[in-house]
Amino acid sequence: MKSRKITRRQAIATASVGAVGALTNFSVPSFAFFKTEKLALLGGEKVRKSEWPQWPVWNESAENDMLKMLRSGRWWRGNGEAVSEFEIKYAELMGAKRCLATASGTTALLIALHVLGVDAGDEVLVSPYTFIATYNSIFINKALPVFVDTNPDTFLIDPDKIEEKITDRTSAILPVHIYGLPVDMDKVNAVAKKHNLKVVEDACQAWLGEYKGKKLGTLGDLGCFSFQNSKNLPTGEGGAVLGNNDEIMDRCYSFHNCGRHYGSVQRTSDYPTRGSNRRMQQVQAITLLSQMPRIEKDADIRLENAKYLDKRLNEIPGIKTYKLVEGNNRSAYHMYPFRYVAEEFGNVSREKFIEALRAEGIPCSSGYGQQNKDGLIEEALNSRGYKRLFSEKRLNQWREENVLPGNDQLAKEAVTFYQSLLLGTKSDMDDIANAITKIYENRKQLS
Ligand SMILES: Cc1ncc(COP(=O)(O)O)c(C=O)c1O
Repeated sequence: MKSRKITRRQAIATASVGAVGALTNFSVPSFAFFKTEKLALLGGEKVRKSEWPQWPVWNESAENDMLKMLRSGRWWRGNGEAVSEFEIKYAELMGAKRCLATASGTTALLIALHVLGVDAGDEVLVSPYTFIATYNSIFINKALPVFVDTNPDTFLIDPDKIEEKITDRTSAILPVHIYGLPVDMDKVNAVAKKHNLKVVEDACQAWLGEYKGKKLGTLGDLGCFSFQNSKNLPTGEGGAVLGNNDEIMDRCYSFHNCGRHYGSVQRTSDYPTRGSNRRMQQVQAITLLSQMPRIEKDADIRLENAKYLDKRLNEIPGIKTYKLVEGNNRSAYHMYPFRYVAEEFGNVSREKFIEALRAEGIPCSSGYGQQNKDGLIEEALNSRGYKRLFSEKRLNQWREENVLPGNDQLAKEAVTFYQSLLLGTKSDMDDIANAITKIYENRKQLS
Protein backbone atom coordinates (compact mmCIF):
# COMPACT_ATOMS: atom_id res chain seq x y z
CA MET A 1 0.00 0.00 0.00
CA LYS A 2 2.85 2.34 0.84
CA SER A 3 6.59 2.29 1.19
CA ARG A 4 8.33 4.04 4.04
CA LYS A 5 11.11 6.41 3.08
CA ILE A 6 14.36 5.65 4.84
CA THR A 7 16.22 8.64 6.23
CA ARG A 8 19.93 9.10 5.64
CA ARG A 9 20.61 8.42 9.30
CA GLN A 10 18.67 5.14 9.18
CA ALA A 11 20.49 4.11 6.03
CA ILE A 12 23.84 4.65 7.74
CA ALA A 13 22.68 2.77 10.84
CA THR A 14 21.45 -0.15 8.72
CA ALA A 15 24.63 -0.30 6.71
CA SER A 16 26.88 -0.32 9.75
CA VAL A 17 24.80 -2.87 11.64
CA GLY A 18 24.77 -5.04 8.52
CA ALA A 19 28.54 -4.88 8.33
CA VAL A 20 28.90 -6.03 11.95
CA GLY A 21 26.45 -8.85 11.24
CA ALA A 22 28.48 -10.00 8.26
CA LEU A 23 31.70 -9.98 10.26
CA THR A 24 30.39 -11.84 13.27
CA ASN A 25 27.92 -14.08 11.44
CA PHE A 26 24.93 -13.45 13.73
CA SER A 27 21.50 -12.45 12.56
CA VAL A 28 20.92 -8.75 13.04
CA PRO A 29 17.78 -8.03 15.03
CA SER A 30 15.50 -5.75 13.07
CA PHE A 31 15.29 -3.29 15.96
CA ALA A 32 18.92 -2.26 15.58
CA PHE A 33 17.61 -0.30 12.57
CA PHE A 34 16.27 2.52 14.73
CA LYS A 35 18.99 2.91 17.27
CA THR A 36 19.74 6.60 16.89
CA GLU A 37 16.40 8.10 15.88
CA LYS A 38 14.64 10.96 17.62
CA LEU A 39 11.15 9.95 18.76
CA ALA A 40 8.23 11.64 16.97
CA LEU A 41 6.82 12.63 20.37
CA LEU A 42 9.92 14.78 20.81
CA GLY A 43 9.83 16.27 17.31
CA GLY A 44 11.46 13.48 15.28
CA GLU A 45 10.18 12.03 12.03
CA LYS A 46 7.12 9.74 12.32
CA VAL A 47 7.50 6.09 11.37
CA ARG A 48 4.03 6.13 9.80
CA LYS A 49 2.78 9.12 7.84
CA SER A 50 -0.09 7.75 5.77
CA GLU A 51 -3.68 6.98 6.79
CA TRP A 52 -4.95 3.66 8.15
CA PRO A 53 -7.95 1.80 6.71
CA GLN A 54 -11.20 3.50 7.79
CA TRP A 55 -14.11 1.73 9.48
CA PRO A 56 -16.98 1.07 8.88
CA VAL A 57 -17.06 0.79 5.09
CA TRP A 58 -20.42 1.55 3.46
CA ASN A 59 -21.54 -0.87 0.77
CA GLU A 60 -23.42 1.02 -1.94
CA SER A 61 -25.22 -2.15 -2.97
CA ALA A 62 -27.48 -1.62 0.09
CA GLU A 63 -28.80 1.70 -1.20
CA ASN A 64 -31.59 0.38 -3.43
CA ASP A 65 -32.96 -1.98 -0.78
CA MET A 66 -32.69 0.68 1.87
CA LEU A 67 -34.53 3.31 -0.16
CA LYS A 68 -37.22 0.83 -1.18
CA MET A 69 -37.79 -0.16 2.43
CA LEU A 70 -37.84 3.47 3.65
CA ARG A 71 -40.34 4.51 0.97
CA SER A 72 -42.57 1.50 1.70
CA GLY A 73 -43.04 2.44 5.36
CA ARG A 74 -42.25 -1.19 6.28
CA TRP A 75 -39.68 -0.19 8.86
CA TRP A 76 -40.12 -2.80 11.59
CA ARG A 77 -39.62 -6.54 11.50
CA GLY A 78 -43.34 -7.16 11.84
CA ASN A 79 -43.98 -6.18 8.22
CA GLY A 80 -40.60 -6.56 6.52
CA GLU A 81 -38.39 -9.46 5.52
CA ALA A 82 -34.83 -8.20 6.07
CA VAL A 83 -34.54 -9.13 9.77
CA SER A 84 -35.61 -12.74 9.20
CA GLU A 85 -33.36 -12.97 6.16
CA PHE A 86 -30.41 -11.80 8.23
CA GLU A 87 -31.24 -14.32 10.99
CA ILE A 88 -31.18 -17.21 8.54
CA LYS A 89 -27.91 -16.09 6.93
CA TYR A 90 -26.13 -15.39 10.21
CA ALA A 91 -27.14 -18.74 11.73
CA GLU A 92 -25.87 -20.49 8.61
CA LEU A 93 -22.57 -18.60 8.62
CA MET A 94 -21.98 -19.42 12.27
CA GLY A 95 -23.07 -23.04 12.13
CA ALA A 96 -25.92 -22.52 14.61
CA LYS A 97 -29.44 -23.90 14.33
CA ARG A 98 -31.15 -20.60 15.13
CA CYS A 99 -30.45 -16.88 15.36
CA LEU A 100 -32.56 -14.16 16.92
CA ALA A 101 -31.66 -10.64 15.81
CA THR A 102 -31.90 -8.02 18.57
CA ALA A 103 -31.66 -4.27 19.03
CA SER A 104 -28.11 -4.50 20.45
CA GLY A 105 -25.55 -6.80 22.06
CA THR A 106 -26.67 -5.66 25.50
CA THR A 107 -30.26 -6.66 24.78
CA ALA A 108 -29.03 -10.02 23.46
CA LEU A 109 -27.33 -10.64 26.83
CA LEU A 110 -30.42 -9.52 28.77
CA ILE A 111 -32.62 -11.91 26.78
CA ALA A 112 -30.22 -14.85 27.11
CA LEU A 113 -29.80 -14.51 30.87
CA HIS A 114 -33.54 -14.11 31.47
CA VAL A 115 -34.57 -17.01 29.24
CA LEU A 116 -31.99 -19.35 30.78
CA GLY A 117 -33.54 -18.62 34.16
CA VAL A 118 -31.12 -16.18 35.78
CA ASP A 119 -33.39 -14.67 38.39
CA ALA A 120 -33.37 -12.07 41.14
CA GLY A 121 -30.98 -13.17 43.88
CA ASP A 122 -28.95 -15.53 41.68
CA GLU A 123 -25.21 -15.34 41.17
CA VAL A 124 -23.48 -15.39 37.78
CA LEU A 125 -19.79 -16.19 37.32
CA VAL A 126 -18.30 -13.74 34.85
CA SER A 127 -15.09 -12.50 33.23
CA PRO A 128 -14.07 -9.12 34.66
CA TYR A 129 -11.96 -8.11 31.65
CA THR A 130 -14.77 -6.93 29.40
CA PHE A 131 -16.97 -4.08 28.30
CA ILE A 132 -19.20 -2.90 31.12
CA ALA A 133 -22.37 -4.15 29.34
CA THR A 134 -21.44 -7.75 30.21
CA TYR A 135 -22.00 -7.39 33.91
CA ASN A 136 -24.52 -4.60 33.67
CA SER A 137 -26.73 -7.23 32.04
CA ILE A 138 -26.37 -9.38 35.19
CA PHE A 139 -27.22 -6.44 37.45
CA ILE A 140 -30.23 -5.50 35.33
CA ASN A 141 -31.49 -9.09 35.84
CA LYS A 142 -31.05 -8.41 39.61
CA ALA A 143 -28.37 -11.07 39.98
CA LEU A 144 -24.90 -10.75 41.45
CA PRO A 145 -21.90 -10.82 39.10
CA VAL A 146 -19.16 -12.86 40.73
CA PHE A 147 -15.85 -12.14 39.05
CA VAL A 148 -13.44 -14.94 38.23
CA ASP A 149 -9.93 -13.62 37.78
CA THR A 150 -8.38 -13.10 34.35
CA ASN A 151 -5.32 -14.97 33.15
CA PRO A 152 -3.13 -12.08 31.97
CA ASP A 153 -1.41 -14.32 29.40
CA THR A 154 -4.68 -15.07 27.57
CA PHE A 155 -6.67 -11.91 28.52
CA LEU A 156 -9.51 -14.36 29.34
CA ILE A 157 -11.35 -15.82 32.32
CA ASP A 158 -9.12 -18.38 34.06
CA PRO A 159 -11.27 -21.52 33.71
CA ASP A 160 -9.40 -23.26 36.53
CA LYS A 161 -10.64 -20.61 38.96
CA ILE A 162 -14.35 -20.87 38.16
CA GLU A 163 -15.32 -23.78 40.39
CA GLU A 164 -14.04 -22.23 43.63
CA LYS A 165 -16.48 -19.31 43.21
CA ILE A 166 -19.64 -21.40 42.94
CA THR A 167 -22.22 -21.00 45.72
CA ASP A 168 -25.72 -22.42 46.19
CA ARG A 169 -27.02 -19.28 44.42
CA THR A 170 -24.93 -19.68 41.26
CA SER A 171 -27.12 -20.28 38.20
CA ALA A 172 -24.92 -19.43 35.19
CA ILE A 173 -21.45 -18.78 33.81
CA LEU A 174 -20.89 -15.85 31.45
CA PRO A 175 -17.46 -16.17 29.82
CA VAL A 176 -16.37 -13.38 27.46
CA HIS A 177 -14.38 -14.02 24.29
CA ILE A 178 -12.82 -10.62 24.65
CA TYR A 179 -11.25 -9.06 21.55
CA GLY A 180 -12.42 -12.25 19.79
CA LEU A 181 -10.00 -14.51 21.69
CA PRO A 182 -11.46 -17.97 22.36
CA VAL A 183 -12.13 -18.95 25.98
CA ASP A 184 -11.35 -22.59 26.80
CA MET A 185 -14.98 -23.65 26.44
CA ASP A 186 -14.41 -27.36 27.16
CA LYS A 187 -13.30 -26.43 30.67
CA VAL A 188 -16.15 -23.94 31.15
CA ASN A 189 -18.76 -26.43 29.92
CA ALA A 190 -17.34 -29.21 32.10
CA VAL A 191 -17.73 -27.09 35.26
CA ALA A 192 -21.22 -26.03 34.15
CA LYS A 193 -22.28 -29.63 33.57
CA LYS A 194 -20.92 -30.80 36.90
CA HIS A 195 -22.83 -28.09 38.81
CA ASN A 196 -25.90 -27.88 36.57
CA LEU A 197 -25.23 -24.29 35.47
CA LYS A 198 -26.23 -22.53 32.25
CA VAL A 199 -23.57 -21.04 29.96
CA VAL A 200 -24.06 -17.79 28.05
CA GLU A 201 -21.13 -16.84 25.84
CA ASP A 202 -20.50 -13.14 25.48
CA ALA A 203 -19.30 -13.31 21.87
CA CYS A 204 -20.05 -9.62 21.28
CA GLN A 205 -16.50 -9.21 19.89
CA ALA A 206 -16.10 -12.68 18.44
CA TRP A 207 -17.76 -13.08 15.01
CA LEU A 208 -16.04 -15.99 13.20
CA GLY A 209 -13.60 -16.65 16.03
CA GLU A 210 -13.20 -20.40 16.62
CA TYR A 211 -12.63 -22.87 19.43
CA LYS A 212 -11.62 -26.37 18.33
CA GLY A 213 -12.97 -25.64 14.87
CA LYS A 214 -16.40 -24.45 16.07
CA LYS A 215 -17.56 -20.84 15.93
CA LEU A 216 -17.49 -18.87 19.17
CA GLY A 217 -21.00 -18.18 20.41
CA THR A 218 -22.21 -21.69 19.47
CA LEU A 219 -20.55 -23.61 22.29
CA GLY A 220 -22.63 -22.71 25.35
CA ASP A 221 -26.41 -22.76 25.88
CA LEU A 222 -26.69 -19.41 24.11
CA GLY A 223 -24.22 -17.02 22.48
CA CYS A 224 -24.60 -13.24 22.22
CA PHE A 225 -23.23 -10.89 19.56
CA SER A 226 -23.00 -7.15 18.99
CA PHE A 227 -23.14 -5.36 15.64
CA GLN A 228 -22.55 -1.88 17.03
CA ASN A 229 -20.84 0.64 14.73
CA SER A 230 -17.24 -0.24 15.65
CA LYS A 231 -17.71 -3.98 15.36
CA ASN A 232 -16.24 -6.27 12.68
CA LEU A 233 -19.81 -6.79 11.42
CA PRO A 234 -21.35 -3.34 11.95
CA THR A 235 -24.75 -1.70 11.66
CA GLY A 236 -24.77 1.24 14.06
CA GLU A 237 -26.61 -0.66 16.80
CA GLY A 238 -27.63 -4.30 16.67
CA GLY A 239 -27.14 -7.73 18.19
CA ALA A 240 -28.04 -11.40 18.02
CA VAL A 241 -28.58 -14.48 20.15
CA LEU A 242 -27.49 -17.82 18.70
CA GLY A 243 -28.70 -21.19 19.95
CA ASN A 244 -29.32 -24.79 18.93
CA ASN A 245 -32.32 -25.57 21.13
CA ASP A 246 -35.64 -24.71 19.47
CA GLU A 247 -37.60 -24.44 22.67
CA ILE A 248 -35.09 -22.03 24.23
CA MET A 249 -34.89 -19.99 21.04
CA ASP A 250 -38.70 -19.78 20.88
CA ARG A 251 -38.64 -18.36 24.39
CA CYS A 252 -35.97 -15.85 23.33
CA TYR A 253 -38.23 -14.76 20.46
CA SER A 254 -41.24 -14.37 22.74
CA PHE A 255 -39.28 -12.43 25.31
CA HIS A 256 -37.87 -10.02 22.71
CA ASN A 257 -41.37 -9.47 21.32
CA CYS A 258 -43.11 -8.24 24.49
CA GLY A 259 -43.94 -11.78 25.69
CA ARG A 260 -46.22 -12.69 22.77
CA HIS A 261 -46.62 -16.39 21.98
CA TYR A 262 -44.20 -17.89 19.46
CA GLY A 263 -43.55 -21.46 18.35
CA SER A 264 -43.55 -23.71 21.39
CA VAL A 265 -44.49 -20.76 23.63
CA GLN A 266 -48.23 -21.48 23.62
CA ARG A 267 -50.94 -18.87 23.30
CA THR A 268 -52.49 -19.37 26.74
CA SER A 269 -53.29 -15.63 26.71
CA ASP A 270 -52.26 -12.65 24.58
CA TYR A 271 -49.02 -12.35 26.51
CA PRO A 272 -48.24 -15.77 28.00
CA THR A 273 -44.77 -14.84 29.23
CA ARG A 274 -42.92 -11.80 30.52
CA GLY A 275 -41.10 -9.86 27.85
CA SER A 276 -39.83 -6.62 26.47
CA ASN A 277 -39.35 -4.94 23.12
CA ARG A 278 -35.82 -5.88 22.02
CA ARG A 279 -36.50 -6.13 18.28
CA MET A 280 -34.07 -5.31 15.51
CA GLN A 281 -35.26 -2.80 12.90
CA GLN A 282 -35.29 -3.30 9.13
CA VAL A 283 -32.71 -0.58 8.60
CA GLN A 284 -30.25 -2.46 10.83
CA ALA A 285 -30.82 -5.76 9.04
CA ILE A 286 -30.42 -4.29 5.53
CA THR A 287 -27.09 -2.77 6.53
CA LEU A 288 -25.97 -6.08 8.07
CA LEU A 289 -26.93 -8.05 4.96
CA SER A 290 -24.84 -5.66 2.89
CA GLN A 291 -21.85 -6.03 5.25
CA MET A 292 -21.93 -9.82 5.34
CA PRO A 293 -20.27 -10.54 1.98
CA ARG A 294 -16.95 -9.14 3.21
CA ILE A 295 -16.65 -10.56 6.69
CA GLU A 296 -14.99 -13.90 5.96
CA LYS A 297 -12.34 -12.32 3.76
CA ASP A 298 -11.75 -9.56 6.33
CA ALA A 299 -11.36 -12.17 9.07
CA ASP A 300 -8.72 -14.01 7.03
CA ILE A 301 -6.78 -10.81 6.36
CA ARG A 302 -6.82 -9.90 10.06
CA LEU A 303 -5.65 -13.38 10.98
CA GLU A 304 -2.77 -13.36 8.54
CA ASN A 305 -1.62 -9.90 9.62
CA ALA A 306 -2.00 -10.78 13.29
CA LYS A 307 0.21 -13.85 12.89
CA TYR A 308 2.87 -11.73 11.23
CA LEU A 309 2.58 -9.09 13.93
CA ASP A 310 2.86 -11.79 16.64
CA LYS A 311 6.19 -12.79 15.18
CA ARG A 312 7.53 -9.26 14.88
CA LEU A 313 6.33 -8.07 18.30
CA ASN A 314 7.62 -11.14 20.11
CA GLU A 315 11.13 -10.09 19.08
CA ILE A 316 10.85 -6.86 21.07
CA PRO A 317 11.82 -7.01 24.76
CA GLY A 318 8.99 -5.93 27.07
CA ILE A 319 6.20 -6.73 24.59
CA LYS A 320 4.17 -9.82 25.43
CA THR A 321 1.59 -10.84 22.88
CA TYR A 322 -1.65 -12.64 23.87
CA LYS A 323 -1.47 -16.41 24.26
CA LEU A 324 -4.08 -18.48 22.38
CA VAL A 325 -5.60 -21.43 24.21
CA GLU A 326 -4.08 -24.51 22.56
CA GLY A 327 -5.96 -26.33 19.81
CA ASN A 328 -7.63 -25.56 16.53
CA ASN A 329 -8.51 -22.04 17.65
CA ARG A 330 -8.60 -18.61 16.08
CA SER A 331 -9.32 -15.13 17.33
CA ALA A 332 -11.73 -12.75 15.61
CA TYR A 333 -9.33 -9.86 16.35
CA HIS A 334 -11.77 -7.13 17.25
CA MET A 335 -8.67 -5.77 18.89
CA TYR A 336 -5.11 -6.97 18.67
CA PRO A 337 -3.89 -6.95 22.28
CA PHE A 338 -0.47 -7.17 23.91
CA ARG A 339 1.05 -6.45 27.28
CA TYR A 340 3.56 -3.68 27.76
CA VAL A 341 6.06 -4.36 30.54
CA ALA A 342 7.31 -0.94 31.65
CA GLU A 343 10.27 -2.36 33.59
CA GLU A 344 11.78 -3.57 30.33
CA PHE A 345 11.27 -0.14 28.74
CA GLY A 346 13.34 1.69 31.38
CA ASN A 347 10.19 2.23 33.49
CA VAL A 348 8.56 4.44 30.88
CA SER A 349 4.88 4.34 31.87
CA ARG A 350 2.36 2.60 29.64
CA GLU A 351 0.56 5.92 29.17
CA LYS A 352 3.77 7.57 27.93
CA PHE A 353 4.44 4.59 25.67
CA ILE A 354 0.95 4.93 24.16
CA GLU A 355 1.50 8.64 23.63
CA ALA A 356 4.83 7.95 21.93
CA LEU A 357 3.36 5.22 19.72
CA ARG A 358 0.48 7.45 18.65
CA ALA A 359 2.97 10.19 17.83
CA GLU A 360 4.77 7.71 15.54
CA GLY A 361 1.48 7.45 13.61
CA ILE A 362 0.19 4.20 15.15
CA PRO A 363 -3.30 4.52 16.71
CA CYS A 364 -3.53 2.47 19.92
CA SER A 365 -5.33 2.39 23.27
CA SER A 366 -5.07 0.92 26.71
CA GLY A 367 -7.49 -1.95 27.33
CA TYR A 368 -10.15 -2.23 30.06
CA GLY A 369 -9.56 -0.82 33.53
CA GLN A 370 -10.39 -2.19 37.01
CA GLN A 371 -14.10 -2.17 36.30
CA ASN A 372 -14.73 -4.59 39.16
CA LYS A 373 -14.09 -1.55 41.35
CA ASP A 374 -16.17 0.89 39.32
CA GLY A 375 -18.83 3.06 40.95
CA LEU A 376 -21.74 1.05 39.57
CA ILE A 377 -20.80 -1.94 41.72
CA GLU A 378 -21.27 -0.23 45.08
CA GLU A 379 -24.26 1.64 43.72
CA ALA A 380 -25.89 -1.72 42.99
CA LEU A 381 -24.80 -3.47 46.18
CA ASN A 382 -26.07 -0.58 48.31
CA SER A 383 -29.43 -0.39 46.58
CA ARG A 384 -32.63 -1.32 48.41
CA GLY A 385 -33.20 -4.25 46.05
CA TYR A 386 -29.78 -5.84 46.48
CA LYS A 387 -29.98 -5.46 50.25
CA ARG A 388 -33.25 -7.35 50.13
CA LEU A 389 -31.93 -10.03 47.80
CA PHE A 390 -28.58 -10.73 49.47
CA SER A 391 -27.59 -10.89 53.13
CA GLU A 392 -25.16 -8.32 54.49
CA LYS A 393 -22.79 -11.21 55.18
CA ARG A 394 -22.85 -12.31 51.53
CA LEU A 395 -22.33 -8.78 50.21
CA ASN A 396 -19.40 -8.19 52.57
CA GLN A 397 -17.87 -11.52 51.61
CA TRP A 398 -18.32 -10.51 47.94
CA ARG A 399 -16.43 -7.26 48.64
CA GLU A 400 -13.61 -9.11 50.39
CA GLU A 401 -13.29 -11.57 47.53
CA ASN A 402 -13.37 -8.91 44.81
CA VAL A 403 -9.59 -9.16 44.54
CA LEU A 404 -8.34 -9.91 41.03
CA PRO A 405 -4.55 -9.68 40.71
CA GLY A 406 -4.48 -11.08 37.15
CA ASN A 407 -7.07 -8.58 36.00
CA ASP A 408 -5.31 -5.71 37.82
CA GLN A 409 -2.11 -6.59 36.02
CA LEU A 410 -3.83 -6.42 32.63
CA ALA A 411 -5.55 -3.17 33.55
CA LYS A 412 -2.03 -1.78 34.03
CA GLU A 413 -0.23 -3.40 31.09
CA ALA A 414 -2.61 -3.92 28.16
CA VAL A 415 -2.26 -2.05 24.89
CA THR A 416 -4.58 -2.67 21.93
CA PHE A 417 -4.80 -1.99 18.22
CA TYR A 418 -8.23 -1.61 16.66
CA GLN A 419 -9.31 -4.26 14.15
CA SER A 420 -9.19 -2.02 11.07
CA LEU A 421 -5.41 -1.65 11.41
CA LEU A 422 -5.20 -5.37 10.75
CA LEU A 423 -6.97 -4.90 7.42
CA GLY A 424 -3.83 -3.26 6.02
CA THR A 425 -0.82 -4.84 4.33
CA LYS A 426 2.21 -6.64 5.68
CA SER A 427 4.18 -3.43 5.30
CA ASP A 428 1.56 -1.71 7.51
CA MET A 429 2.31 -4.36 10.15
CA ASP A 430 5.99 -3.58 9.74
CA ASP A 431 5.21 0.08 10.48
CA ILE A 432 3.59 -0.99 13.76
CA ALA A 433 6.48 -3.24 14.76
CA ASN A 434 9.09 -0.71 13.62
CA ALA A 435 7.46 2.09 15.61
CA ILE A 436 7.50 0.01 18.81
CA THR A 437 11.07 -1.05 18.12
CA LYS A 438 12.06 2.58 17.63
CA ILE A 439 10.50 3.50 20.99
CA TYR A 440 12.25 0.58 22.66
CA GLU A 441 15.62 1.51 21.21
CA ASN A 442 15.17 5.16 22.17
CA ARG A 443 13.38 4.63 25.48
CA LYS A 444 15.95 6.74 27.33
CA GLN A 445 14.58 9.80 25.52
CA LEU A 446 11.33 9.30 27.46
CA SER A 447 12.85 8.93 30.91
C1 LIG B 1 -17.77 -7.72 25.24
C2 LIG B 1 -19.01 -6.93 24.97
N1 LIG B 1 -20.16 -7.29 25.56
C3 LIG B 1 -21.30 -6.62 25.34
C4 LIG B 1 -21.35 -5.54 24.50
C5 LIG B 1 -22.62 -4.80 24.32
O1 LIG B 1 -23.00 -4.67 22.98
P1 LIG B 1 -23.82 -3.40 22.47
O2 LIG B 1 -22.93 -2.22 22.53
O3 LIG B 1 -24.19 -3.78 21.06
O4 LIG B 1 -25.00 -3.26 23.33
C6 LIG B 1 -20.19 -5.13 23.84
C7 LIG B 1 -20.19 -3.97 22.95
O5 LIG B 1 -19.26 -3.25 22.81
C8 LIG B 1 -18.98 -5.83 24.09
O6 LIG B 1 -17.85 -5.46 23.51
